[in-house]
Amino acid sequence: MNKLLLVPLMALSFAAFAQEPAADAAITDQFTPPMIPHPVAAYLPITPTKNACLMCHQIPKPGMQKMKGMPTPLPPSHVTGDKVNPNRYECMLCHAEVLPEKK
Ligand code: HEC
Ligand code: HEC
Repeated sequence: MNKLLLVPLMALSFAAFAQEPAADAAITDQFTPPMIPHPVAAYLPITPTKNACLMCHQIPKPGMQKMKGMPTPLPPSHVTGDKVNPNRYECMLCHAEVLPEKK
């Protein structure tokens, strides 16, 4: 790739990640989307008006915690204000199902 193009691209990606809480999380946690441990076929496709993932993976309310067996609330990186960040709306761009269902 053209080196001149790469520089602004890198700057952009750093800017995007700068909003995420660094805290003490391992670097891999910040950049690696967790695998989806359940089938997703029933929830696809995601359309501009319908995103079934959000029925369960909701914007966390204050005090809401991650609990085993319960749908994990959306992490702060996925939320802007009181809405899902548009860059995170297409869940399947980043998250993959552990064992995809046979079609
Ligand atoms: C019917 C409710 C439901 C729907 C709809 C749903 N999920 Fe889940 N999801 C769950 C549950 C329950 C878990 C397991 C939480 C746990 O690890 O105990 C889970 C786990 C996950 C995880 C792993 C979270 C982690 O902390 O590692 C991801 C990623 C995920 N789902 C993505 C998706 C995506 C993408 C969609 C839409 C295609 C979707 N889910 C639709 C209930 C749902
Ligand atoms: C641009 C890539 C990207 C998209 C799109 C995306 N995610 Fe994620 N997701 C990540 C990454 C990276 C992480 C781990 C770091 C973090 O928590 O931000 C993550 C973490 C998660 C977690 C785990 C949170 C936790 O506390 O363990 C859930 C649940 C989740 N995403 C659900 C979704 C759902 C539902 C959608 C669609 C509405 C979605 N993601 C769209 C990249 C993405």
